[in-house]
Amino acid sequence: MGIQHSLSPLFTVIAFFLFLSSLYGQSNAARNVTVDDSDAAIEYEGIWDPEPASDPASQGGSHKVANDPSAKAMFKFNGTAVYVWFPKWSYGVSALLSLDGSDPELVNLEDDTKDPSDSAVDPSTVLRYWDGLDDGMEHTLMFEKGPGFLVLDMITSVFAEFISSSRLTPT
Ligand SMILES: *[C@@H]1O[C@H](CO)[C@@H](O)[C@H](O)[C@H]1NC(C)=O
Ligand SMILES: *[C@@H]1O[C@H](CO)[C@@H](O)[C@H](O)[C@H]1NC(C)=O
Repeated sequence: MGIQHSLSPLFTVIAFFLFLSSLYGQSNAARNVTVDDSDAAIEYEGIWDPEPASDPASQGGSHKVANDPSAKAMFKFNGTAVYVWFPKWSYGVSALLSLDGSDPELVNLEDDTKDPSDSAVDPSTVLRYWDGLDDGMEHTLMFEKGPGFLVLDMITSVFAEFISSSRLTPT
């Protein structure tokens, strides 16, 4: 008993270093942060439908929709990548996307293989992404209205987990 008792501080120290090394092991890990359409991190401008449209083909079961020419949505994030998810429709839906002030580019959300009367929606997938981003600065993803309805379904940003050694070193 006495021996075990005298060893326990050593085990505590070993456990502490194992704990530290497990944190260091994760220090370069990437973590995906999912931001669905109703997330407060997205700033909506212009006139959007007040309630998200319920839709089983959308991530999280709904998306936001706008038909106002000045409708915009802005999402700011820190990270190394961003993925933008959309379903597709048989009729005119699109989004103009830009990152950090780049020229807006059109993402066509109309499935041209479908008859316009077909009400089925293609399940949401990643239709545009940016990676290799500088995680030392804040990025801004903009959604603007293109031809047809503007939709926002879901965004995934990739956050590089960095644990600074100064925060881990006991003082
Ligand atoms: C993050 O999400 C994207 C898009 O779904 C996926 O391709 C990638 O593997 C994910 N990364 C991690 C670290 O989970
Ligand atoms: C990005 O990081 C900067 C610096 O740490 C911080 O001020 C800013 O609030 C972060 N932005 C977001 C969207 O989290």
